[in-house]
Amino acid sequence: MRVLGIETSCDDTSVGIVRYKSGRFAIESQVTASQVLIHRRYGGVVPEVAAREHALTILPTITAALARARRRWSAIDAIAVTAGPGLNTALLVGVETARTLGYLLKKPLVAVNHIEGHVVSSWASPAANAIHFPAVALIVSGGHTELIHITGFGRYRLIGRTLDDAVGEAFDKTAKILGLPYPGGPEIARRASRGNPQAFIFPRALMKAGSLDFSYSGLKTAVLYEAQKHHARSPRLVNDLCASFQQAALEPLIEKTRRAAVQKKARTIILGGGVAANANLRSGLEQMVAALPRVTYVQPALSLCMDNGVMIAMAGAIRAQRKDYTAWPRLQADPNWELVGQK
Ligand code: KG4
Ligand code: ZN
Repeated sequence: MRVLGIETSCDDTSVGIVRYKSGRFAIESQVTASQVLIHRRYGGVVPEVAAREHALTILPTITAALARARRRWSAIDAIAVTAGPGLNTALLVGVETARTLGYLLKKPLVAVNHIEGHVVSSWASPAANAIHFPAVALIVSGGHTELIHITGFGRYRLIGRTLDDAVGEAFDKTAKILGLPYPGGPEIARRASRGNPQAFIFPRALMKAGSLDFSYSGLKTAVLYEAQKHHARSPRLVNDLCASFQQAALEPLIEKTRRAAVQKKARTIILGGGVAANANLRSGLEQMVAALPRVTYVQPALSLCMDNGVMIAMAGAIRAQRKDYTAWPRLQADPNWELVGQK
């Protein structure tokens, strides 16, 4: 089965083609038209601008993905598309494109939840055959900070979430405070690698509480106060602020994932989302899991951390194999689609 996946939920127009056979994925192509440079001017994503860019780039992106995979439409068995959650105007472009192509080309359509895409983004890695259930997934992006208890593909329960900002959002807002460009995550990580994480002691929210929830607004405010104390900020000071912020942002993620895995007797820990590209988060989770007996760990390839069409094609392929299709007249965007029930 070969699936073409379309992702337009935020600021990347991305298309991936994936072959799924005997439980294994082969990525045949991935093409992304990034809007980062456009949104950088505004310091964040502007939904109407994102939708316009998606509309202008979606068809060339699909054509490029087919060309790169050296496939014609006749080789595509199904079209998967992110139906939510995300920005409504942005989602609409992908969904309406998929509906039109599904109708005209007579291809079955799969509505994919964006978070499920992030959950399966690590499943193409060679370590993917080490995935066993129950599993605990940590999904960290610009819009989400979630711990999900997974008892099988499609069986999810939300066991922890952020009470305010998402961790990626905290990276982005902190970068803005420090005058660094959008998106803040990669820039903060780069500076943090040259800074001292012990230079400032920032709060680690909800670490004592038994809950698996997160909170990032206090940390952001603490960085703001500290930054305001220093009018002239040397590069060294900025590096130290970044390193101290990053450490405070990542520690609760690693510790609460550990607690969740122990509580749920997880056999696998799964990482996903844009913040999964963070090198310290990856190594921190690796070290944490190494101390847990009989628990395996999978993380997405760096190219599959940020929003992409491949992960949507992957989740779509698993659903397509189960004939979990949505007829084109019924397919619609749902900006608030919850993957999992509330706790
Ligand atoms: O999954 P994603 O591409 O989009 C959403 O669904 O939100 O995640 C984007 C987020 C941004 O907040 C960005 O700053 C963050 O991921 N990010 C990082 C890193 N690379 C991207 N955060 C920390 N460290 C990174 N290396
Ligand atoms: Zn995402």
